[in-house]
Amino acid sequence: SERTLILIKPDGVSRGLVGEVLTRVERKGLRIVALDLRTLDADTAKSHYEEHAQRPFFDSLVEFITSGPLVAAVVEGHRAIESFRALAGATDPVNAAPGTIRGDLGLEVQANIVHGSDSTYSAEREIKLFFPDLA
Ligand code: GTP
Ligand code: MG
Repeated sequence: SERTLILIKPDGVSRGLVGEVLTRVERKGLRIVALDLRTLDADTAKSHYEEHAQRPFFDSLVEFITSGPLVAAVVEGHRAIESFRALAGATDPVNAAPGTIRGDLGLEVQANIVHGSDSTYSAEREIKLFFPDLA
């Protein structure tokens, strides 16, 4: 079994999609082991997205992800990292397959509803960043 960090980004929370996303996660068979509604400060946001620091959209991304409350969750299950990325769909919702979270519910590349860790390394780093006390 494996753990991954999921975010329901501020657009997902403000659009009332928390239940929809968590329902899909649970129906897939992933188990929620931590769950929290919070607003990120800029330092945490920059740390979370440090791999994108040199990208032209970095400042915009930090502003977006700190713009309101998000839901952070750790979920666990068989190949959880890949399983959730498959549920989420392609980064740009325009290209995300119907049936995925982004494909069904999104339209814009930045406000694309969810985040999921993309490797065992990033999952470990992100889980520590968001839930430092999780066993
Ligand atoms: P995350 O799970 O959020 O990390 O998405 P991802 O792994 O599918 O995409 P990536 O890590 O490449 O990009 C991180 C986030 O930056 C994306 O989810 C989008 O919110 C945002 N993003 C990616 N590409 C662009 C872009 O070209 N323009 C803007 N404005 N935002 C982007
Ligand atoms: Mg990513």
